[in-house]
Amino acid sequence: MIKEDLEAIRAKAAEKIAAAEGTDSLNDIRVALLGKKGELTSLLKSMKDVAPEDRPAVGKMVNETREEIEKRLAEAKKTFEEKELEARLSREKIDVTLPAARNRIGHPHPNTLALQEIEKIFTGMGYEVVDGPEVERDYYNFEALNIPANHPAKDEQDTFYINKDILLRTQTSGVQVRQMERGKLPIRIIAPGRVYRADEVDATHSPVFHQVEGMVIDKGIRFSDLKGTLEEFAKQLFGADTRVKFRPHHFPFTEPSAEMDVSCFKCGGKGCRFCKGEGWIEILGCGMMHPKVLRMSGVDPDEYTGFAFGVGLERIALLKYEIDDMRLLYENDTRFLDQF
Ligand code: DAH
Repeated sequence: MIKEDLEAIRAKAAEKIAAAEGTDSLNDIRVALLGKKGELTSLLKSMKDVAPEDRPAVGKMVNETREEIEKRLAEAKKTFEEKELEARLSREKIDVTLPAARNRIGHPHPNTLALQEIEKIFTGMGYEVVDGPEVERDYYNFEALNIPANHPAKDEQDTFYINKDILLRTQTSGVQVRQMERGKLPIRIIAPGRVYRADEVDATHSPVFHQVEGMVIDKGIRFSDLKGTLEEFAKQLFGADTRVKFRPHHFPFTEPSAEMDVSCFKCGGKGCRFCKGEGWIEILGCGMMHPKVLRMSGVDPDEYTGFAFGVGLERIALLKYEIDDMRLLYENDTRFLDQF
């Protein structure tokens, strides 16, 4: 009697499992047959009607039936899961041959490119690149550079004052003083950085711009060293055919002082639109360290001599990349910047 019932349950299970449509219906089948109120469970309850000597055999049959149903359910579940995985994989298929979305990658600003080139030239000649503060004491920006309180250079380089003694530096020349004060000689440095002046913005002026200062102090440094160094700099920066010309000039912290012109790298010196017909382009100020400036910072001018120079970084960038308006360097219009 129980045996037939078990047979019926087993057959029913096989049929239902075969017809199941997914893991949810497998669960329903499990509950209906093997659950607390399931058919096999109720059958177990009728064990009390079975003769005691038959019970072990019947018990064994019930267990076998349960195991078989469990096994079928597990197999069916596995098949469904595999099918679902396959379906998901084909749904989420990625076409690896599609072109990737391109990242917009930035690149160095023309000022940075010009600075990298200048630094490469001078470090190649054994110079060290140093830094100085942009918020500077009046002493370092003017006083120690032989520009006393009532000097006209202070008007030409009008700046932004934090208070009477502290200002935004107008030139990188103050770094010369700070280097000398460290007391280590000889010195061979360049000092790039931002400088400030109370200027109106136009095609060639900006209240914030950059300079690269240079200074060499050693025993026996002469004007010929200055000329040779800066000529080499010009040739490396603008091409081997570049010629240089030194015009006398005045700077309070150098004596003698000069401005250096380079032959126009566009026309080779014949005169063109680029050099405004001059054939020459002014690029920097320079001179021999003023003995007074050396002495003020603790360097003995009888033992040591030196030279210094200051280059406008924007001026170099504008020339090198043939840009005709300085404002373009600061507007951060990517249509402009992308060209470099
Ligand atoms: N500091 C000067 C300026 O801003 C440039 C300069 C000229 C720097 C001569 C120097 C130098 O070191 O020797 O106009």
